[in-house]
Amino acid sequence: MLIQDVFSAYKDDLQRVEKCINDNVNSEIKLIPEIAHHLIDSGGKRFRPLLLLLCSRLCGYQGESRFPMATVMEFIHTATLLHDDVIDQALIRRGKDSANKIFGNSVSILVGDFLCFKAFMLMSGIGNNDIFGLVSQMGNIMSEGEVFQLTKCGDVNITENEYLSIIEKKTAVLISASCAAGAILGDAPREKIDALKRFGRNVGMAFQITDDVLDYMAKGEEFGKSIGKDLEEGKITLPLIFAIRDSPEEEKNTIRGIITLKKGSQKAAREIIKLIKKYKAIDSSLQVAAGYISEAKSQLSIFNDCSEKDHLNTVAEYILFRNV
Ligand code: IPE
Ligand code: IPE
Ligand code: MG
Ligand code: MG
Ligand code: MG
Repeated sequence: MLIQDVFSAYKDDLQRVEKCINDNVNSEIKLIPEIAHHLIDSGGKRFRPLLLLLCSRLCGYQGESRFPMATVMEFIHTATLLHDDVIDQALIRRGKDSANKIFGNSVSILVGDFLCFKAFMLMSGIGNNDIFGLVSQMGNIMSEGEVFQLTKCGDVNITENEYLSIIEKKTAVLISASCAAGAILGDAPREKIDALKRFGRNVGMAFQITDDVLDYMAKGEEFGKSIGKDLEEGKITLPLIFAIRDSPEEEKNTIRGIITLKKGSQKAAREIIKLIKKYKAIDSSLQVAAGYISEAKSQLSIFNDCSEKDHLNTVAEYILFRNV
């Protein structure tokens, strides 16, 4: 089974989510829907809504609340992208000029806030206290992750564990909560909610590692974002951490020097990529991602075999081979 088959199996549900998304970006202040639509209409995988729909179906839920709930997750994701592109000074998102580039930083941040609060309004309509708690805590942790990452910007001594903690907070908790919220809607027993939460956490860890790998290796047109952006920002991700770890002392210093002194230049990027290749740091990073995916899949053993379980396994495996 391919990832496209999974998306196809949820096509009708995803269309309902798309409608819910569109119904909820309206405002009498026209700049708000304009900016929100700019980003929402330019694509995006809708990966978090897919996981929510999948997990809710796996837990036997077919009620209407799954559509606003998937919208909540996509809105919070969209808000983090608007904020992220301001923080990272990104110029391209989903293959188009980023909102901050076109409309400026201030209004991008504010529309991100609008979407976050809209997400909370939608959640209050759903009226499930466990979900409210889960998502509020998730938002707190995501902010912690971004702040922690900022404090490590340009720090060539960042450890693998610090990196893993950053990506767990900034990325994995949202994917984890998308899975758990689906299970909560289905009134699943605690063990199943927790298993799907761990499934999502592990998938989310692999998802950010592959994003960080793609930042070095992807084709820009396909990925829809600038390549080599992390290094330019001084963000030291797993491939670079492994290149430093696995190189001899002399070259470690070369790498550290490039990061500290020549950050941002094309030449620096080329030199770093050469060393990342030399020390097989992409392979090592993907191996770590593969470990998370196998851990994610093992969390599904609590569920009986069914098509939804097959779908989740397919989604998990896709992460390792994605190029978008
Ligand atoms: C981008 O997420 C942000 C990360 C967590 C790496 P996605 O890769 O899911 O972005 P879209 O929604 O498909 O554009
Ligand atoms: C992803 O961080 C986590 C978010 C909160 C968006 P990145 O900064 O790597 O995301 P991209 O690569 O810009 O999508
Ligand atoms: Mg970014
Ligand atoms: Mg970022
Ligand atoms: Mg990235």
